[in-house]
Amino acid sequence: MDKFLIEGGAALRGSVAASGAKNSALPALAACLLTSEPVTLGRIPRVKDIRTMQSLLAHMGASVEEYSPDITLVHANSLPRPEAPYDVVKTMRASSLVLGPLVARTGRARVSMPGGCAIGARPIDLHMRALEQLGARIEQSHGYVEAVAPEGLRGGQIHFDRITVTGTEDILMAAVLAKGETVITNAAREPEVVDLCDLLTKMGAKIGGAGTSRITVEGVEGLHAAEHQIIADRIEAGTLLLAGATTGGDLTVTQCVPEHLAALTAKLRQAGFEVTEPTPDSLRVRPQAKLRSVDMTTEEHPGFATDLQAQYMALMTQADGIAMVTETIFENRFMHVSELNRMNANIRIDGNRAIVAGPRPLTGAQTIASDLRASASLVIAALVADGETVIDRVYHMDRGYERIEQKLESVGARIRRIQ
Ligand code: EPU
Repeated sequence: MDKFLIEGGAALRGSVAASGAKNSALPALAACLLTSEPVTLGRIPRVKDIRTMQSLLAHMGASVEEYSPDITLVHANSLPRPEAPYDVVKTMRASSLVLGPLVARTGRARVSMPGGCAIGARPIDLHMRALEQLGARIEQSHGYVEAVAPEGLRGGQIHFDRITVTGTEDILMAAVLAKGETVITNAAREPEVVDLCDLLTKMGAKIGGAGTSRITVEGVEGLHAAEHQIIADRIEAGTLLLAGATTGGDLTVTQCVPEHLAALTAKLRQAGFEVTEPTPDSLRVRPQAKLRSVDMTTEEHPGFATDLQAQYMALMTQADGIAMVTETIFENRFMHVSELNRMNANIRIDGNRAIVAGPRPLTGAQTIASDLRASASLVIAALVADGETVIDRVYHMDRGYERIEQKLESVGARIRRIQ
């Protein structure tokens, strides 16, 4: 199993480019199932979760070709096996994104139920209920969700009890081929949802209200070929900015969308950094004043992303004062806390709050990554820790960060991948 060996103490300086968004590329690949014509997707990040989704589409019978490292062409001419087996779903929960497109295109889907995961229970009940409202019959047996709609789906009113990102995406992909109009309220407003709507629109879908909490879809008979460029990964960009900030360096992240990172940049400014936009698609962060603690609560977009909570906490270990970090999206997303404390951080958990007391000099240690974003937090902590840190189970990081060690090394980090 690969590990990272990081020697702390080097401030990150220079510029580094963001890759395409994993959480946008995943639904985009699933959307390719909606048409028998070829769909070309550019700026696909080379990360493990994307490989998994590509193999899942191939398993169903789609042809998946990579033209250059970041361009994938999917041609789902026919789908003889409209199912997502357990072996795939257990490694990547986003596999449930194929549920909506499969029922819409083939009238049936069989998708393994995701179990719990390191960050919480993560059920897909809201996806299933919404699909039922579009006329699908759903049964659960032997650990699988089986959905059928022999006569096709019909439009309906869908109100999500709570905001769900992949749930909104799943139902959008079902609704585009349903008969009549669908109105989705309390829809997710994440940039990845908007990106999916852009792709679906290029494929011929009729969608209104993308980026708001009320999305309308007028169903069409069929979708067609399209080409689409995936948006920048705001979570990767935010992770890099937080790494630069924590090390007290001067880092510019290029090829990103500053507007998608507004909640993070506001916190960074309050904490004592100067954050500028040297170009419309880049962000530069450098220290301006003494680093101070700033409370943060995760929220759905445009609030502070839960996917940056762990990395933000690493920054707060270096800030002067007490920072309350409140997690409202997932019930168990503090797995990084015990590892950060082993590196001499002073963080106490109280329910869904972490109380971070700083500044604390961190010390290198042997650590274990527990999930994707927790591993990013440990990397950031290791970059400022005294001495060497070993981070085990880097495969978590490889699920969602493209060549992260090369990117960090290019801006001055002392990081190596070891066996
Ligand atoms: N929820 C339910 N029932 C459902 C769906 C969700 O109770 O049917 C709950 C969840 O358990 C959670 C909350 O609703 O407490 C919000 O979950 P959401 O459905 O929005 O999460 P998701 O769609 O499964 C996506 C990202 C996550 C990101 C969350 C929140 C993808 C592929 N994944 O997950 O990304 O944390 O939205 O923004 O888009 C990551 O990249 O590290 C990651 C975990």
